[in-house]
Amino acid sequence: MTKKKADENRVLLLSNAAQIVTVSGFEAKKGLQMQELGVIEGGSVVVKGDRIERILLPGETMVDIVPDAVIDCTGKTILPGFVDSHTHLVFGGYRENEYNWRLRGDSYVDIMNRGGGIINSVRGTREASFETLYKTGMKRLDSMTRFGVTTVEAKSGYGLDKETELKQLEVMKALQTDHSLDLVTTFMGAHSVPTEYKGRGAEFIEYLIAEVMPLVREQNLAEFCDIFCEKNVFSVEESRRLLTAAKDMGFKLKLHADEIVQLGGAELAAEVGAVSADHLLQASDEGIRKMAEAGVVATVLPCTAFSLKEHYARARHMIDSGCAVAVATDFNPGSCFTESVPLAIALTTLQMDMRIEEVITGLTLNGAAAVGRAHEIGSIDPGKKADLVIHEFPSYQYIPYHIGVSTVEKVIKNGRLIFDACKIEIL
Ligand code: NIG
Ligand code: FE
Repeated sequence: MTKKKADENRVLLLSNAAQIVTVSGFEAKKGLQMQELGVIEGGSVVVKGDRIERILLPGETMVDIVPDAVIDCTGKTILPGFVDSHTHLVFGGYRENEYNWRLRGDSYVDIMNRGGGIINSVRGTREASFETLYKTGMKRLDSMTRFGVTTVEAKSGYGLDKETELKQLEVMKALQTDHSLDLVTTFMGAHSVPTEYKGRGAEFIEYLIAEVMPLVREQNLAEFCDIFCEKNVFSVEESRRLLTAAKDMGFKLKLHADEIVQLGGAELAAEVGAVSADHLLQASDEGIRKMAEAGVVATVLPCTAFSLKEHYARARHMIDSGCAVAVATDFNPGSCFTESVPLAIALTTLQMDMRIEEVITGLTLNGAAAVGRAHEIGSIDPGKKADLVIHEFPSYQYIPYHIGVSTVEKVIKNGRLIFDACKIEIL
């Protein structure tokens, strides 16, 4: 798949859908608003160039425009493309051995303390060529496309030095240019303390602020800055220092917060005005209340908790407390080697007490808000990018029901058909 521009005057009609799930809105939906999907039955979507032109209600016809192409959506459901708002998709090497140790009972923290974990992927990523990272990145984006993802957030953080952090971000820039999907890039040099700075986390933060982040900004390589605020990684004080400096440089902010230990990451996210705080397995009631008040998107990553055999983040409590919740995969080589959206849907609905309506909002409009794009993507509203996914069944209720299986039939990205499951040929 490569990025091509849709002809700006070309009209594509997605006609007669059993359901159009619009998720209509231009900002995150908070609390129980997340249940409002704005379903239209028997309507059509008109796409012009790379944009959604209008929605036709049942019986309404276009008198002024003749479509250049029509996709018959009879018996199908149209959704906005999914936004996977938290991934670590560019990395070198794999950690299949660590995963198998975990299956036998070792914990993520045990493995990290004996030199495995993130540092293991740092070795692999420092050694990997630009070419290798680019090729694997392209393949991973292809796989995400098949799950109906049309925008992906991607973090650096497996370099932990100037050269490799920039290499990872440059790979992402090339992927953004060449792949059909859109990438939102995040600088996460503060993912772990590298071996060279062992025991000197605060100094490492100063190094990132003085020597790496200005280059990332100058070269326009990342829009967001993220940090792993966690016991034995970066403290709340160190995280505050980095995030405030990042904000002054013009980065938008994200945090890996309260994943393993309740440190106060959710509270810090509210204090510094982060766009999102992610993981949140241990987030306190107070932290959740503060995030709801400050409008921080709470991003839950169910596949990570599943893969680590941890309990899940309290998504139900977050929604009931008025938070905007996003759902993402956290695809990475260690704690969660899966880009499976159907798995995330199964876990949120079966294990986290989220309603499918809330999950769909979390994967579309709220995912878009978590990457600062709710005005542009994440819903089926005229004027937004034509990122649309046709699901094979006549209602969105089939999406969780077909447990762990993708219901995606066709993916339209920026107004172009980029994936069609019906066209797979068996040789
Ligand atoms: O989001 N929590 C920290 N970072 C990643 C794990 C990365 C890794 O293990 O390589 C996460 O789960
Ligand atoms: Fe992560």
